Amino acid sequence: MPVITEIEDLKRIYRHRVPKMFYDYCESGSWTEQTFRENSSDFDDIRLRQRVAVDMTGRSTESTMIGQDVSMPVALAPVGSTGMQWADGEILACRAAHAFGTQFTLSTMSVCSIEDVAEHVDKPFWFQLYVMRDWDFVVRLIERAKAAKCSALVLTLDLQILGQRHRDHKNGLTIPLKPTPANLLDLSTKWAWGMAMMKTPRRSFGNIVGHAKGVSNLSSLMSWTAESFDPALDWEKVKEIKRLWDGPLILKGILDAEDAKMAADVGADAIVVSNHGGRQLDGALSSIRVLPSILDAVGDKVEVHLDSGIRSGQDVLKALAMGAKGTYIGRAFVYGLGAMGQKGVTAALEVIRKELDVSMALCGRRRVTDLDRDVLLVPEDFEGRWQSA
Ligand SMILES: Cc1cc2nc3c(=O)[nH]c(=O)nc-3n(C[C@H](O)[C@H](O)[C@H](O)COP(=O)(O)O)c2cc1C
Repeated sequence: MPVITEIEDLKRIYRHRVPKMFYDYCESGSWTEQTFRENSSDFDDIRLRQRVAVDMTGRSTESTMIGQDVSMPVALAPVGSTGMQWADGEILACRAAHAFGTQFTLSTMSVCSIEDVAEHVDKPFWFQLYVMRDWDFVVRLIERAKAAKCSALVLTLDLQILGQRHRDHKNGLTIPLKPTPANLLDLSTKWAWGMAMMKTPRRSFGNIVGHAKGVSNLSSLMSWTAESFDPALDWEKVKEIKRLWDGPLILKGILDAEDAKMAADVGADAIVVSNHGGRQLDGALSSIRVLPSILDAVGDKVEVHLDSGIRSGQDVLKALAMGAKGTYIGRAFVYGLGAMGQKGVTAALEVIRKELDVSMALCGRRRVTDLDRDVLLVPEDFEGRWQSA
């Protein structure tokens, strides 16, 4: 087993083991990728305050997210097609998250279906909903998530229309992979991935095939997916979904204080400050940069979570100290999954926990729940002076 000391180690192995098309699908942002890059680099602008001679025994990273206990407030973000990054990926990632004591969020666009994951894990997981034009399908998805005893609904609001990632178009991304000469050549060096894939029957979008009207096979699936996201999604539909779900609701993809206020008014249990990992609106600010303004607007009304750009425990510490109650990792866990399956997801979480724990101690704090702005050195102009009108 290779020595894993940082998330970058997992990414290196992942790159060698998974077909280029799926690596590129994960490791890109939309258009110029400015937002994708700044999501991570903006964390570097924040520094930490070293404190000494503080008793650092009995430390804990335990906390809660929407009232549910977590061993560390870092959940796994919904990632579409996780089951193409490694065979049965959603089940493996969910098991790793549960064993670690945190939450896994299953994407609408997952390979393993809601029912399949529920059958193969021991504890409830969260379900992420994309709103589709086919309202009956949306209602059925909510019912299926309820029947599978999902313990929160994560409603994604920042993907009514798809941002463009150049590489997906150039690679001709398809699920499953088409046996073109370029793909076959690439696959010849990714034999472990191919062997694992051959052994599983799970190779397409499990929540959709056989459930959405007119989607019974793979060719109908591809055209359905491209046209199906609901461009007419609005706050009235969000309210209707909250009513239908009638359980813990997390609104994901909030990047503006005004939208955060709307989300709080709707009665969400939490919001996720997120720009979809830089995959949607290129040129948008990074999540960590907008976090303070959102906390100012709604911090006392709704639980605020953050994702996009987290690659280390220090990034987590910065988001928590800034005021977020929880965080999510997307790519960081996918690197682990593609590198080493379930063990790799566990390794990603362990790397992050160690970095978080040691950094917290060196900042003179013993519990993540005690972190506050006092441990951070934030440049005066961090939020930037942006004119919106
Ligand atoms: C390959 C990939 C697929 C994704 N699919 C979904 C999805 O199906 N639903 C969703 O709400 N967000 C999706 N996201 C966004 C993640 O939930 C999360 O917001 C993002 O990955 C966080 O940024 P990070 O990857 O820098 O941690 C996806 C992200 C990636 C990288």
